[in-house]
Amino acid sequence: MILVPLFDLKFLPEFAAGGVGTSNRRHYVGGNILHSIVTYQPSHFDGIRVLWHEAFPDDPPWNAAEIAIPAKLKIQPELFLVAIDQDLVDQDLVDQDLVDQDLVVGSIMAGYDGHRGWLYAAAVLQSHQRQGIGTALVREVENLLSGMGCTKINLQVRASNTAVARFYNSLGYEIEERVSMGKRLHQ
Ligand SMILES: CC(C)(COP(=O)(O)OP(=O)(O)OC[C@H]1O[C@@H](n2cnc3c(N)ncnc32)[C@H](O)[C@@H]1OP(=O)(O)O)[C@@H](O)C(=O)NCCC(=O)NCCS
Repeated sequence: MILVPLFDLKFLPEFAAGGVGTSNRRHYVGGNILHSIVTYQPSHFDGIRVLWHEAFPDDPPWNAAEIAIPAKLKIQPELFLVAIDQDLVDQDLVDQDLVDQDLVVGSIMAGYDGHRGWLYAAAVLQSHQRQGIGTALVREVENLLSGMGCTKINLQVRASNTAVARFYNSLGYEIEERVSMGKRLHQ
């Protein structure tokens, strides 16, 4: 499991020796909260499913976790990141699998095709929004894409979703004069 710091949050050395067993686990705090961003692990599945149900209530069936996650794990699984609530992990009261399952608070998927990078399905639990977790997920996946040689990232936002447009705008993404087109290959 790869653990990376949240973007723009302070590393707390006093937490470095604590945690629940992984020696490379590093803890960061922003405001009163403590989080880690990790690559997706199977133990995160149920937490992601709950998160996506809340964040994308109107999504079509083909975007369900049961379909989208196995598909993503076949191609560039390292570009599927999960934010976990490190505060509860540090209580060290339950085993690691249960912690990972229960404490997913955010996620993002990305892809790079050799020409463009794409971001998909950024989501943060409502109870954890406006604390910088979405920003941290985007920044971390931007770093991964950049490291793969990607020089331009695209994303699509539903026209009605002005809040998400403002979120991405705050991260430097601009609305471009394009017409979005698509075609489903399988029904
Ligand atoms: C979009 C989303 C992932 C943002 O996550 P988040 O953790 O709350 O984002 P951050 O805390 O990093 O926000 C960073 C900045 O983005 C802007 N922003 C975030 N949410 C916003 C909102 N609802 N309205 C307006 N601006 C917003 C703000 O400028 C914010 O900074 P501030 O809190 O200091 O004002 C989250 O709102 C979400 O899960 N939405 C539902 C799912 C969704 O529609 N995803 C997009 C799919 S394309």
